[in-house]
Amino acid sequence: MQRIRITGGNKLIGNMPVSGAKNAALPLLAAALLTDEPQTFTNVPNLADIRTLRALLEGHGAQVDYDPASEAKAMQIHTPVVTNHTAHYDLVRTMRASILVLGPLLAREGHAKVSLPGGCAIGSRPVDLHLSVMEALGAEIELEEGYVVAKAPAGGLQGATYIFRTVSVGATENALMAASLARGTTVLKNAAREPEVVDLAECLVKMGAKIDGIGSDTMTIEGVDRLNGCEHQVVADRIEAGTFAMAAGITNGDVFLKNARLEHLEAAASALALAGVELTAEEGGVRANRPSGRLVGTDITTEPYPGFPTDLQAQFMGLMCVAEGASVINEHIFENRFMHVPELLRMGADIRVEGRSAFVKGVEQLKGAPVMATDLRASVTMVLAGLVAEGDTTVHRIYHLDRGYEQLEDKFKGVGALISREDDPTNGNGN
Ligand code: EPZ
Repeated sequence: MQRIRITGGNKLIGNMPVSGAKNAALPLLAAALLTDEPQTFTNVPNLADIRTLRALLEGHGAQVDYDPASEAKAMQIHTPVVTNHTAHYDLVRTMRASILVLGPLLAREGHAKVSLPGGCAIGSRPVDLHLSVMEALGAEIELEEGYVVAKAPAGGLQGATYIFRTVSVGATENALMAASLARGTTVLKNAAREPEVVDLAECLVKMGAKIDGIGSDTMTIEGVDRLNGCEHQVVADRIEAGTFAMAAGITNGDVFLKNARLEHLEAAASALALAGVELTAEEGGVRANRPSGRLVGTDITTEPYPGFPTDLQAQFMGLMCVAEGASVINEHIFENRFMHVPELLRMGADIRVEGRSAFVKGVEQLKGAPVMATDLRASVTMVLAGLVAEGDTTVHRIYHLDRGYEQLEDKFKGVGALISREDDPTNGNGN
């Protein structure tokens, strides 16, 4: 097992490249199952979660070629025949996004057996919306020994109108993929509008799908008989970009986020501006710096896009730990997404949690300490805190980090951070 060591105190200055978005690449890879033609994606990030989904797709009969070292970071996926219709628990339990093969398998093959993903550190994360939208499209859904067994009608899925009781990124993505090959018209209401959902919809249209209302909360899909292969570039990762912007902010640095798109970060940018960190669109990316030098306590509430993203909540809390004054952080998307709080307290932060709200009082200085990674975004928050803390911070169980951040240490080293990966003699226990 490995850990990351950070010695705090350096300002981050320079260029940080932003990779393709994990949360766009995962549904895009699943969408490749919808066609028997070769599909090419570029700007595919080299991440543990991508490797997990690749293994799952190969289990369904996909031939996958990927050269992460290539300039284009191109991945070819070709599934001429689906050889297996079951997504097994051993893979699905390591990555809940595996549920995204349900829609494509059901739409293309008429049946699928997908393990229920189980919960994770940030909440129970049910998949009821994924299942109910498939039923709305005519599928029969049975639960058997922890597996979802889904069967389309003899004539295939049927278009329908469906209103999501709550905004769900994954269920919207599964519905889009299934409806693309359903017979007739599907209308999805209260659909997710995240840039990653837009990226998937735009790729489906390139494959021949007929989708109106992309980027809005109501999408209309006219089913087609078949989809073709295409080439599609994965959208830049707005969460990675936002994470790096906060790293620049917490160190009072000045960083250019190469490939970042400010229009995907508006809610985060407006909260950061109130906090004293300015994001400015420049040619080919976004610049993040602290013009006045002050960092001011600012309240946020996480909401579905275009609101403040839940995937940046932990990082923003890290920033608020060293701001002047107090801030309130309300987590409205997940029921247990404050796992980073006990770890920040170990570093001298002043935070009190009441239900889904965290009350943060800025402190003069955080102190380095051994801390634990618990989920992907909490892990990177510990790195951010380590960048500004006095002394050394060691972050343990960094397999969480490797799920969603590509070459993290190299990117931070490139702008002056004192950060390195090392073997963990405590085997993840941090003692
Ligand atoms: C996606 O997860 C992202 N993952 C998450 O990023 C992100 O935090 C989340 O969207 C919200 O933006 C990927 O895209 C792979 P949801 P997803 O369905 O689709 C409830 C990261 O760190 N819900 O939008 O699973 C759910 O419990 C990860 O990169 C149901 O009740 O999220 C949650 O409270 C973490 N029933 C809310 O909806 C369902 O069937 C939003 O979840 C589905 C979801």
